[in-house]
Amino acid sequence: MKIVVLTGAGISAESGIETFRAETGLWANHRVEDVATPEGFAKDPDLVHAFYNGRRGQLADVQPNAAHKALALLEKHVDLLVVTQNVDDLHERAGQRNLIHMHGELRGALCHGCGHRWAAPDTMNTTDACPACAAAKTRPDIVWFGEMPYQMDRIFDAITAADLFVSIGTSGNVYPAAGFAAEAQRAGVDTLELNLEPSNTPTDFADARYGPATEIVPDWVATFT
Ligand code: OAD
Repeated sequence: MKIVVLTGAGISAESGIETFRAETGLWANHRVEDVATPEGFAKDPDLVHAFYNGRRGQLADVQPNAAHKALALLEKHVDLLVVTQNVDDLHERAGQRNLIHMHGELRGALCHGCGHRWAAPDTMNTTDACPACAAAKTRPDIVWFGEMPYQMDRIFDAITAADLFVSIGTSGNVYPAAGFAAEAQRAGVDTLELNLEPSNTPTDFADARYGPATEIVPDWVATFT
């Protein structure tokens, strides 16, 4: 059985990481243009580094929850690829191995001069030198609005070759991830949504279960173990 799971901020919500679009979410307190675009970074890199340094620092205070752990367990029973839009490290800390961070990761640093990637220090600064080319052109390895998410070819190949595509804890606002379920359906792949409430694209799913991820994800995984 081949399964591709897409996860969003909802899977980490019960670990204590704010989602983006909740009333008190990240985008209620920060302008996307300021902290999540290349233009925002060019305008005020110190502000952008401070934003991601803060989010990176929060990782020390949070733990993987029952939903992350259930997906790590599922990997032992089926052929599973987890594609996450999340930039936290909770899937890998739960033990997930076959994982793609399509929107980058807080623990990563990227040189926007030479493209080199390395493990981010706890605190990144505009003056940090790239370990490969020595230019002070470091940025968080986060995919910002207007940039291409990572490993799209591999993701589309996996979805169209899967038996089942499952979307967990994502609102379906941001493409291309929001189009994965429709893509799966076009390829004849079965689809399931697991979310607190219906996403923006509920008709793209053949089946859906609604509730907190820490309850509905372990319940669903239990059907395979
Ligand atoms: P959103 O904040 O848009 O949506 C979070 C989803 O999780 C919503 O559908 C909630 O109903 C659901 N949710 C909240 N709590 C939950 C819980 N306890 N259990 C299950 N579901 C829960 O976050 P994303 O869809 O992940 O991109 O956002 C997608 C992208 O938009 C992010 O990766 C980020 C953001 O702008 C970039 O920064 C490029």
